[in-house]
Amino acid sequence: MSKIRAKISGIQGWVPPYILTNKELESMVETTDEWIMTRTGIRERHILKGAGLGTSDMGAEAVKGLLKKTGVKPEEIDLLICATVTPDMVFPATANIITDKAGLVNAFSFDINAACSGFLFTLITASKYIETGMYKKVIVVGADKMSAITDYTSRETCVLFGDGAGAVLLEPTTENVGIMDSIAGTDGSGRTYLHMKAGGSVKPPSHDTIEAREHFIYQEGQPVFKFAVTRMADVSAEIMERNNLTADDISYLVPHQANLRIIDATARRMGVGKEKVMINIDRYGNTTDATIPLCLWEWEDKLKKGDNIILAAFGGGFTWGSIWVKWAY
Ligand code: UT7
Repeated sequence: MSKIRAKISGIQGWVPPYILTNKELESMVETTDEWIMTRTGIRERHILKGAGLGTSDMGAEAVKGLLKKTGVKPEEIDLLICATVTPDMVFPATANIITDKAGLVNAFSFDINAACSGFLFTLITASKYIETGMYKKVIVVGADKMSAITDYTSRETCVLFGDGAGAVLLEPTTENVGIMDSIAGTDGSGRTYLHMKAGGSVKPPSHDTIEAREHFIYQEGQPVFKFAVTRMADVSAEIMERNNLTADDISYLVPHQANLRIIDATARRMGVGKEKVMINIDRYGNTTDATIPLCLWEWEDKLKKGDNIILAAFGGGFTWGSIWVKWAY
């Protein structure tokens, strides 16, 4: 019997309409468009505005669009997994809220937190439910309202992040396409460089934690940068080597969009030319779990069946990973 693989059979993205430009940031903190562009490659980012709106609202929009586009009915979905670091609430899972808002009445759902590698970790997890034959239709969502945990008085972080969501549909196939191979890694000691100090069980919210601005992203940029460059490049090269893929075999690299300089270093290490790298950091910034699906969504029209695509990420935790996908349509 031929092997069952999980194929991506649809992709949809959603970003909120409000655009926060570098120019507007110049009026909020001491920064310049020039600094942001040269150090990060970001020109603007989308921000979710409006009381009562959260990550699930963006995720639900992406899911509803995905179902419409693929012609799949909400009740056909067996499972939805959401990658996020900005859940609507500490509990219940944002995936449950998306499932409710999108009318997936027969799906069970849960969240995965692997920071910027979350979409990859979730895609790997979801693919196993398909490969084992357990489920036929699984949705993976990557969604983050980073503006909810970004300190807009800190120029070190507020220029980096944006909001957005992406969703993919996974289905079984016995053709030689789909999720072909994956690598994932974590190093919990890296947490010191990138985390949120308060709001969890170690330091529950209090007046003091609010005053100390501890409910925002804390990042030591340089050490994170160093690890990101090495790990993302290494893991991308490793997945190519162990599958005997050369740069010529690769149609696209889809890197997590944290910094254009990290993306360039990864592409160089793989020997892949710039024309093969999906880059939209200039328009969205770092949307954490949404960066990779937003790239795939924007490039969907250019993709062909059989294209070899390498997804690669590095993020808080530390976490990192890569996936070799053979595009299925
Ligand atoms: O997605 C999750 C993983 N995260 C990442 O991969 C992020 C990795 N890190 C980075 O991308 C970079 O480290 C940053 C973009 C965060 C920072 O860039 P950098 O080139 O590492 O700058 P830096 O932190 O070394 O700061 C250089 C200078 C400092 O001033 P002094 O000390 O040299 O006078 C900063 O205070 O730039 C200053 N600076 C700014 N200046 C203008 C920091 N942020 C800004 C800013 N505007 N927004």
